[in-house]
Amino acid sequence: MTNEQSSPAPEIENLMAEGRAFPPPPAFVAQANAKADLYLEADDDYEAFWARLARERLTWRTPFKRTLEWDAPFAKWFTGGTLNVTENCVDRHVAAGLGDKVAYHWVGEPGDTRTITYADLLREVQQAANALLELGVRTGDRVAIYMPMIPELPIAMLACARIGAAHTVVFGGFSAEALAGRIEDAQAKLIITADGGWRRGKPVDLKTAADEAAAQSPTVEHILVVRRLGDALPASMTPGRDVWWHDIVTRQVADCPPVPVDSEHLLYILYTSGTTAKPKGIVHTSAGYLLGTSVTHEMVFDIKPDDVYWCAADIGWVTGHSYIVYGPLANATTGVLYEGAPDTPGWDRWWQIVEDYKVTVLYMAPTAIRAFMKQGEALPAARDLSSLRLLGSVGEPINPEAWLWYHLNIGRERCPIVDTWWQTETGQILISPLPGVTETKPGSATFPLPGISADVVDSNGDSVPLGQGGYLVLKRPWPAMLRGIYGDPDRYRATYWGRFPGMYFAGDGAKRDTDGYFWLLGRVDDVMNVAGHRISTIEVESALVDHPAVAEAAVVGKEDPVTGQAIFAFCTVRADVETSDELAHELREHVAKVIGPIARPRYLLFTPDLPKTRSGKIMRRLLRDVAEGRALGDTTTLADQGVVETIRAGAGRADEE
Ligand code: PRX
Repeated sequence: MTNEQSSPAPEIENLMAEGRAFPPPPAFVAQANAKADLYLEADDDYEAFWARLARERLTWRTPFKRTLEWDAPFAKWFTGGTLNVTENCVDRHVAAGLGDKVAYHWVGEPGDTRTITYADLLREVQQAANALLELGVRTGDRVAIYMPMIPELPIAMLACARIGAAHTVVFGGFSAEALAGRIEDAQAKLIITADGGWRRGKPVDLKTAADEAAAQSPTVEHILVVRRLGDALPASMTPGRDVWWHDIVTRQVADCPPVPVDSEHLLYILYTSGTTAKPKGIVHTSAGYLLGTSVTHEMVFDIKPDDVYWCAADIGWVTGHSYIVYGPLANATTGVLYEGAPDTPGWDRWWQIVEDYKVTVLYMAPTAIRAFMKQGEALPAARDLSSLRLLGSVGEPINPEAWLWYHLNIGRERCPIVDTWWQTETGQILISPLPGVTETKPGSATFPLPGISADVVDSNGDSVPLGQGGYLVLKRPWPAMLRGIYGDPDRYRATYWGRFPGMYFAGDGAKRDTDGYFWLLGRVDDVMNVAGHRISTIEVESALVDHPAVAEAAVVGKEDPVTGQAIFAFCTVRADVETSDELAHELREHVAKVIGPIARPRYLLFTPDLPKTRSGKIMRRLLRDVAEGRALGDTTTLADQGVVETIRAGAGRADEE
């Protein structure tokens, strides 16, 4: 079943037909943190705006001298300043008397729970930092983190930041090979992992993949392992190299002074898919990133001291870095950290967590909303969701129907919705409503936040009139922006600043309506968005052709009513190879092995040939038309007009998983 085939519920249909806009509820406006005058202040002098916030909100060891040094496209924010990120996220809250405040309510998938206060966090981060020192990690080193959603994950990240080492967190759904590639690029010295985690009621092994990655990575000296599964999946430990977290961390003293670092000191690298086979190491530094995430967290989510905030993302993605770890902790927020899947043990698990912990602010992806929609209204209706006061959405365009379902069934028409547009590269939310200020329209991320200058331009880089579509660009630096691609300044310049000189090109299409509202239209490059996860078509293609049976492959994102896009692979096999369902299965397994289970193609079609231009370029646009069953677009540049018709004739036979 798909929600495309069934028509929306009558009340949603009515609201859609009305094309309604939603002003913030007056009671919300009266208490909102962010007021409209922030736009004026930031427009007047955006550097002064960020400088004021940096002085007010961050705790500095040395005050910064200059707000911004902009040698386009290379930005340095708050130069001359020093601070420590963990001192800002933990120590200062404990010093201010908030030691007993809960930092995280952790919920394990099997139902085990843990409450971690700021005092607990301070103790455990210092112990973990001392363990890193004992394992030879020093300021400036890189540490790879490959963990499930357990409390030790944010603790490990903070332990790195405490001693000025950079982390690179690799999502647990990536393969050993993907992990090894990132370790190699970052030259990481240590892997922090777990024996595994729980997912959909089953133990998921991580240690074996960490071992395989370590075997390919000469820079790795040790593996630090959290015991999460224990007897459910015993891990093998290599003496001398591998150490258990509970052996080494627990015996450390809980005193490890935070190392003050320069504002521009490397905080982390996070790899993301681009338009080539090699993921890019996005570089984020300390002060600007911390400011950008904490300010937007407080403004966009209207965070108050007694909020219980739940960002239901995985820390392995940027959403978790910025809005589970750094932004919320800098704001001394109480958060929920959930290990598992939304459907385990049942599809009301999330609503149960909201009820149990009295969650006030909930932030999730449209994919999850659409998956919940398929389960119907009864599950959320049976739970007490009255604690909720604000809802957020991130990761992909939210269709108006999903927006309205969220509004009616989760927000119960009481809660403003903030649809937040941003990226791994931007570090912080850039386009979003301010919940006490902005009238929202379902499906629009509304306007750039104070201090942010966004525009929609045509292929010449000229601003398009309101009502028209084009490319989304950013015209000014912002504090949490990426500082580059790790080790590759030329690629940074070419990828983001080369298409439209002087402007950051996000890779997204967008349109502004006649009221100036921004509507995000999805990627305009070869990047897919599958369930809010960014996956490169070219990365999947190169994994497929890496298999000996495959001569050529082309991958497109096929529109999907739940996951936004689904991966559709067209494969041409070598002359001596027979195609079969078994081979289709084997190719999917191969992609999972090379990249990770998240990149397995949902559809796989063997084709005798692929449509190419006369210069040999695969025409993915036509393949997308085929995958989505549309009339074919312009085929005049095809070298062989017949190929695409042959493929189309066979498209119905695509193997679907
Ligand atoms: O295409 C946009 C989409 O997700 C891309 C960024 O992906 P990633 O770096 O993985 O970060 C995801 C979480 C911040 C963007 O280029 N995207 C993200 N948020 C939205 C969105 N598309 C539409 N609306 C959004 N709110």
